Amino acid sequence: MKVVIVGAGNVATVLGRLIKKAGHEVLQVVSRKADNAAVLANELGCSFADNSGVLDKSADLYLIAVTDTAMSQLDETYHLGNKLVVHTAGSVSKEVLKNVTYNYGVLYPLQSLRKQNMELQQDIPLLIDANTAEALKTLQEFADTISGSVNIATDEQRLKLHVAAVLVSNFTNHLYALAADYCNKEGVDFKLLLPLIEETALRLRHHLPGEMRTGPAARKDIQTLQKHLGLLAQYPAIHNIYLKMTDSIMNP
Ligand SMILES: NC(=O)c1ccc[n+]([C@@H]2O[C@H](COP(=O)([O-])OP(=O)(O)OC[C@H]3O[C@@H](n4cnc5c(N)ncnc54)[C@H](OP(=O)(O)O)[C@@H]3O)[C@@H](O)[C@H]2O)c1
Repeated sequence: MKVVIVGAGNVATVLGRLIKKAGHEVLQVVSRKADNAAVLANELGCSFADNSGVLDKSADLYLIAVTDTAMSQLDETYHLGNKLVVHTAGSVSKEVLKNVTYNYGVLYPLQSLRKQNMELQQDIPLLIDANTAEALKTLQEFADTISGSVNIATDEQRLKLHVAAVLVSNFTNHLYALAADYCNKEGVDFKLLLPLIEETALRLRHHLPGEMRTGPAARKDIQTLQKHLGLLAQYPAIHNIYLKMTDSIMNP
C-alpha cells in the first residue's frame, strides 16, 4: 500500500518503520514542525512537509499519529474525499475523522512506544476499527502485514482497554520511577529489583494477577507495614501512595 503519515513522534516513527519493513511504500511524512517531519522522512526515504505544505493525495492510506488534542482540529486542515484515513489514539472516537473522509477508522497500538527503542520484543497488538465493512476489511489486511496480533475493537472497547493500559503500564512505570528515586536517596541499588519486576510481570502469562498477591499487605503483616510507613515519613508522596495501595490490597 502507499501510505502518508501525519505526525512525526513516537507512534508515527515506530509504525512508520514497521510499515516500511512490511514492504509498503511511505510516500510522505507531514508534521507540524518541518524539522521533525524531515528526520522521519529521511529515515523512511520519502518526502516531507509541514502542516501548511502540500499533502500528497495519491496514497491509499493516511495514518494520523498526532496528539489527541491536535486530532480535534484535523477537519479544518484535511479533506480527503473517500481515502482511508485512520488515527492511532486509544481514547478518541473514530468519528473525529468523519468530516475528513468517507472512509475512516482507527489503528491503535496497544503498546508503549518510544522512537528511541529500535527493537521491539514482540508484535505490537493492534486494535482496529472502521466506519464501513469495506474500510475495516482493507484496514485488517494492512494491519495483518505489520503485526501478528490484530483485533477489532469498537470505540467503547478501545477506551476501556486504554484505561486498563494506563493502570498496568503508566502507573506501574510511575511506581518504578518513585522507587528508583527513593533507592537513589537511600543509597541502595534499584537495579537489584529488576529480576523481581520481571518475575512479577512474567507470572501473568500463566496466572491471574489476583491469585499472585504477595507482600505485607496481602499477608496483613501490620508490624512490617508500620515499619515501612515510618521509613517513608520523609517521602510524603510515596507514603501517600503506599497507604492507598495497602488499603486497596487489604480491602479489595
Ligand atoms: N506513544 C505511545 O506509547 C502511544 C501508544 C498508543 C497510542 N498512542 C497515541 O498515538 C498518538 C500520537 O502519540 P505519540 O506518542 O506519537 O505522540 P508524540 O510522540 O508526542 O508526537 C505527537 C505528534 O503530534 C504532533 N503535534 C503535537 N501538537 C500538534 C498540534 N497542535 N497540531 C498538529 N500536530 C501536533 C507533533 O508534531 P511535531 O513533531 O511537529 O511537534 C508530533 O508529530 C496519540 O493519539 C497517542 O494517544 C501513543
